[in-house]
Amino acid sequence: LFTPVILCGGSGTRLWPLSRTGFPKQFLVLNGRNSLFQQAYERLRSIETEAFRADKTLVITNEAHRFLVTDQLRELDALAHVDILLESQGRNTAPAITLSALQALQNSNDPVLVVSPADQIVTDLAACNDALRLAVSSAAQGHLVVLGITPTSPETGYGYIQHEKSEIVKEEVQVIAFAEKPDLETARRYLESGEYSWNSGMFVVRASVWLQAMDRFAPDILQSVSQAWEKRKHDGLFLRPDATDFASTRSESADYAVLENCPGSDIPIRMVALEAGWSDLGAWDAVWQVNEHDDQGNAFAGDAVCVDTRNTLVHASHRLVSTVGVDDLVVVETSDAVLVARRDKAQNVKAIVQQLISSK
Ligand code: GDD
Ligand code: MG
Repeated sequence: LFTPVILCGGSGTRLWPLSRTGFPKQFLVLNGRNSLFQQAYERLRSIETEAFRADKTLVITNEAHRFLVTDQLRELDALAHVDILLESQGRNTAPAITLSALQALQNSNDPVLVVSPADQIVTDLAACNDALRLAVSSAAQGHLVVLGITPTSPETGYGYIQHEKSEIVKEEVQVIAFAEKPDLETARRYLESGEYSWNSGMFVVRASVWLQAMDRFAPDILQSVSQAWEKRKHDGLFLRPDATDFASTRSESADYAVLENCPGSDIPIRMVALEAGWSDLGAWDAVWQVNEHDDQGNAFAGDAVCVDTRNTLVHASHRLVSTVGVDDLVVVETSDAVLVARRDKAQNVKAIVQQLISSK
């Protein structure tokens, strides 16, 4: 038995102005009909077979986004198959996963958690399912299994997994170390060495093994999350841990709190390679990349008329957007803000968001 766990309490800032505090990246439609969160939900359900039964999906998000979550799940007819855990304040992913592990143990007998961020896409669903089923089998034996992506560029926005080399892709390998978000020089070295994969952020682990790891590496977080969970309140669809106890929890990502401490410890950690067209759509450039292009390399969403324009992304929400004689741009129009950026500089919208916050 496995329990899908979807982490969707984050607030991506690099896709501003579409991604906002009130409407973060994971709830946006960026590559077709469904939002990234909806795609994550359906992707994890699709692992299920006769041999791999799925329990209720656990969705863990911020109080402020509960109606986004319920609206989007209702569109999938999925409300009956989920528990929605609400955090009064985000405390990053380690506390969120710990809450999910406690709830999963309540719902079934030490299930394997399939933990996934809500803000990614995967184009080859069959390959993704194969990799995740392999990971579930391994996790059932007590391993913590991370899903790694073969890197294609020295990205600094990802975590890196150092692992033993293997010729066979469809096999798990030992993890040697983790390195979260290295600088560019280090990332280049990792890429050249061939010993590193990107951390997809997806991992698979038995609920009891996760709690054991938390007890070992972050006992203070385990303690205050457990207290918050003991005092939880059930309200229809929603499950609320105690706000005061949860707020007093140390904020830490799963990567820092647990994963990077596992190699060399008595928590056995493995990696399964995920070769499935994965992207975390970290910036507008990546959104351009994964969308269908016309014969000039342009990708459009909404009302757009582009003349003599190449390799440009236009995302229009409320008005007609038109361009003439430009190349390699990102143009994103919303009701109250418009972004025009060079495609290769689009990661820097983070700086705009920082400026907006500090000038408030
Ligand atoms: N419930 C909850 N609460 N979810 C959260 C919280 C929180 O406090 N903070 C973040 N999340 C969710 C986000 O919504 C996202 O789906 C996921 O957890 C990962 O958080 P991000 O903030 O997007 O992390 P990241 O992109 O910087 O880095 C992680 O993902 C990379 C791949 O996309 C790391 O795991 C990296 O190592 C990894 O390479
Ligand atoms: Mg992310």
